[in-house]
Amino acid sequence: MTTMTDRRAIIEAATAARDFAQARYSGFRVGAALEAEDGAVFTGCNIESATYGLTVCAERVAIWKALSAGALNFRRIAVVADTEQLTPPCGACRQIIWEFCGDVPVVLANLRGDAETLLMSALLPRPFDNRFLNETEAQKG
Ligand code: THU
Repeated sequence: MTTMTDRRAIIEAATAARDFAQARYSGFRVGAALEAEDGAVFTGCNIESATYGLTVCAERVAIWKALSAGALNFRRIAVVADTEQLTPPCGACRQIIWEFCGDVPVVLANLRGDAETLLMSALLPRPFDNRFLNETEAQKG
């Protein structure tokens, strides 16, 4: 069961990662922390590019780090930004969280101690994923 203490720990990990954000264009710093099933925590921060379009969000950095280290199953993800209204994952990140983490709890938090936990299925209703690809004519041969 997720306890309040557990939630604080993952929020703290995401908050610490936020300090490394490369956010010189937007000034909007975000931290993320992804907990694997064995308890390992992979963190991420947003990394902005001078092209703007190649910017990567904190959530995807954490997911790419976890997958590239061999982690496959995840318990939850936390996102921390300095906003009064808690910052949720962007649309692109919702898709990636759904595909690689499934219907995990998403912990949203700010620097003022506010936090809320939502399920991915609430953030991304009726998702597109590989179940649809498996139904294509090409896949059937
Ligand atoms: N950003 C994230 O890293 N995660 C979110 O959940 C929302 C947006 C970043 C992308 C960009 O570097 C900056 O915040 C402003 O959009």
